[in-house]
Amino acid sequence: MPQKQRSMRVLGIETTCDETAASVVRLSSVGGGDILSNEVMSQIAQHAAYGGVVPEIAARAHVDVLDHLVERALRQAGVAIGDVDGIAAAAGPGLIGGVIVGLTFGKALALAARKPFIAVNHLEAHALTARLTDGIEFPYLLLLVSGGHTQLVSVRGVGDYRRLGTTIDDAIGEAFDKVAKMLGLPYPGGPEVEKQALQGDPARFSLPRPMLRRPGADFSLSGLKTAVRLEAERIAPLRPGDVADLCASFQAAVVDVIIDRIRHALRAFRAEDGDPTALVVAGGVAANGAIRRALARFSGESGLNLIVPPPALCTDNGAMIAWTGIERLRRGMTDDLTFAARPRWPLDASAERVHNGKA
Ligand code: KG4
Ligand code: ZN
Repeated sequence: MPQKQRSMRVLGIETTCDETAASVVRLSSVGGGDILSNEVMSQIAQHAAYGGVVPEIAARAHVDVLDHLVERALRQAGVAIGDVDGIAAAAGPGLIGGVIVGLTFGKALALAARKPFIAVNHLEAHALTARLTDGIEFPYLLLLVSGGHTQLVSVRGVGDYRRLGTTIDDAIGEAFDKVAKMLGLPYPGGPEVEKQALQGDPARFSLPRPMLRRPGADFSLSGLKTAVRLEAERIAPLRPGDVADLCASFQAAVVDVIIDRIRHALRAFRAEDGDPTALVVAGGVAANGAIRRALARFSGESGLNLIVPPPALCTDNGAMIAWTGIERLRRGMTDDLTFAARPRWPLDASAERVHNGKA
């Protein structure tokens, strides 16, 4: 491998949702990447009062902090802008105002520093993170579960994805957040629901498992969410024990659905792409302990290599954007400065279907 490739370094910028992030990653000589810096500034506090991400607030907050954050990421990595081999910015999918902030900043920097520019698909960045952390080979099965996305994807190569399943209504993280909100728990609701569930009885309420054993690998969460609301209304006023039991019952239903859908996706994966090198989990929901344990059990039984990147690399971050920049730059896949922000940008264009647009 030529010297230049061994030490390739890329700056990555992420602004598609409510985290502003910048990072420098270096291609490692032993496979995968070395994260030289990974700066993230979360806007959760600014959105908490509204119970969700407010796009205008997000865009303005990205503008306020991005230049400092990029400077910090470069300093932390000990590299000057002139020393990087390329500049990568997430160009979508996501909240358009925020995407434009990061994309424009990245393009301007690339122009000024005369560096190649890489417009990164945020979903591809989640999908390729396991190659950054674990250097795994293609093809692998990806479960992407965040506040905006719920997808099962066959990751066959850089830019080569086959979507096996997605949600036909709410994303899983979104369902956690909505259940938390209806039970009076703070935002973001996922971690709160998990905390409550630890003390609750998962068998007290018999909630539906939407899509269970249905053909294909699609998800549906809205019926389950409604069932939680109806149970909560039926037994109102809620005591603390009731909230814990509702959370535990909801989480147990989600776990059952996830495992069933993965089982189906795995069958579809093998039919066309052979054996996966791993089952990879990404997205904020991957922080959930009950889901992780169920995935570990399932992987053990199925002889699958389970890879769950550390939480800071499962949620939105700049390192995954920088790494995707490296993957593409190495293959000569750069973009010109006219590349426009894309609020919607499916990984698998042939499987495009309208669903929630948040990144
Ligand atoms: O990937 P992420 O940080 O942001 C995007 O949505 O892109 O994911 C955030 C989502 C939120 O919906 C949050 O409630 C959920 O992940 N989440 C969890 C847990 N931690 C975060 N859901 C369930 N259990 C958790 N422990
Ligand atoms: Zn994301």
